[in-house]
Amino acid sequence: MAKAMIIYGSTTGNTESTAQTIAEVLAEQDIETTVKDVTSASMDDFDKDFDLFLLGASTWGDEEIELQEDFADFYEDMDSLNLNDKKMAVFGCGDSSYTYFCGAVDAIEQKVEDMGAVLVTPGLKIDGDPDDAEEDIIEWTQSVAASA
Ligand SMILES: Cc1cc2nc3c(=O)[nH]c(=O)nc-3n(C[C@H](O)[C@H](O)[C@H](O)COP(=O)(O)O)c2cc1C
Repeated sequence: MAKAMIIYGSTTGNTESTAQTIAEVLAEQDIETTVKDVTSASMDDFDKDFDLFLLGASTWGDEEIELQEDFADFYEDMDSLNLNDKKMAVFGCGDSSYTYFCGAVDAIEQKVEDMGAVLVTPGLKIDGDPDDAEEDIIEWTQSVAASA
C-alpha cells in the first residue's frame, strides 16, 4: 500500500480542512495517509518511508508573498534537506483579490523543485472557502493519487 504524508500550515482553518479532505480522498484511493500540522512536523519526516509528500500553506501579506506564519519557519528549515527525486505536490488556500493569489503555493513549488523534488501535479490553489471547492480538491487529489 502506498503511503503519503501531508504537512500543512493554517491560520483560520481553511488549509487544515483542505488537508483533511485530501486525506479522505487519498484513503479512498487506498493510500495510507498521515496528516500533520506543520507545528508538529520536523525535517526528519522527510527521511521517513513515504511515497508522496503533500505540503499545504495559505498565503498572507499584501505587498509581498508571506507564507502562513507556522509554515514560514519550516520553509526556511527546509534549506538543509535533500529532496532528490521525492514525489511532492503543493496546495493552499488564498484569496484572488490579493496581488499574489496563493503565492505560498508558487513559492513552495519553486523551492522543492529547485531542491530536486518531482512535482507530480501542478499546485492546488483554493480561492475562498474550501467547502465551495470540494470537487476541485477531489479531482486534484485523484490526480496526485494516480502518481503514487
Ligand atoms: C491580512 C491578510 C493577507 C492576505 N494575503 C493574501 C495573499 O497575499 N494572497 C492570497 O492568495 N490570499 C491572501 N489572504 C487570504 C488568506 O490566505 C485566506 O483567507 C486563506 O483561506 C487562509 O487560509 P488558512 O485558514 O488555512 O490560513 C490574506 C488574508 C488576510 C487576512
